[in-house]
Amino acid sequence: MSDAAGAATFRTPAEAYDRHIGRYGRELAQALIAAAGVRAGARALDVGCGPGALTTELVALLGAEHVAAVDPSAPFAEACSRRLPGVRVERASAESLPFDDAVFDVALAQLVLNFMTDPPAGVREMRRVTRPGGTVAVAVWDYAGEMTVLRRFWDAAVALDPAAAVRDEGRSMPFCTPEELAALWSTAGLEDVRVAPAVVGAEYASFEDLWQPLELGVAPSGAYAAALAPADRAAFKAELRTRLGAGAAPFRLTARAWIATGRVP
Ligand SMILES: C[S@@+](CC[C@H](N)C(=O)[O-])C[C@H]1O[C@@H](n2cnc3c(N)ncnc32)[C@H](O)[C@@H]1O
Repeated sequence: MSDAAGAATFRTPAEAYDRHIGRYGRELAQALIAAAGVRAGARALDVGCGPGALTTELVALLGAEHVAAVDPSAPFAEACSRRLPGVRVERASAESLPFDDAVFDVALAQLVLNFMTDPPAGVREMRRVTRPGGTVAVAVWDYAGEMTVLRRFWDAAVALDPAAAVRDEGRSMPFCTPEELAALWSTAGLEDVRVAPAVVGAEYASFEDLWQPLELGVAPSGAYAAALAPADRAAFKAELRTRLGAGAAPFRLTARAWIATGRVP
């Protein structure tokens, strides 16, 4: 996936992200922290922190002075820094982390690996800054399977326009299957490699509540919806509403992520 269609779509106001994928962030962060075995007293790095969903949960467990975070998106890094005073937040990419070797007990990345320009380099950097015996762990969506809102989104898009298949994150995103993740972790020299599913959820007040942030252009899905011509966007909106079976009433959607963990030798 090119930067233009991927990472670049996160240079939007943090609030747009909060109302789209950010809704799933807290539950997913709790699952990632548990899978990585993060305990009080640890020093943690959040790679690709966004507006701070995982950073917030790390601060609650470890205290701000034990947490650092990086993100290349200026509005997201600024939002994370503003929301979490005391956390060292840097504007930086996974592929070039601004930290010395072995300074963290755990390096985590939530919904970031597949957006990296060079994921193997990003994982190597996460390993470099983590001490021997520490943990490198990520969560990625099961885009091709049970990440409900995005699966329905791309199925609706392709049903109306077969050319949208190249934008379907279930096809375009690398390192989003258990097999690819396990191979990447092993190639990076990590030990005790595990990949497991985590199912999380988000609440919506109505279909409009789900739709509105998409028009703000955040994430590859929002960028797709926002770029449609008005008539195509109206048709797509109706198709998505039908496929979700959603209307004016509140509803909850679930989303499956894969969590990969490994120990630094
Ligand atoms: C889907 S958001 C996830 C944000 C946050 N981790 C969360 O769970 O809410 C993806 C994030 O990855 C960041 N990102 C994109 N390319 C990156 C890279 N090469 N290194 C680190 N972060 C990157 C984006 O700026 C964005 O904040």
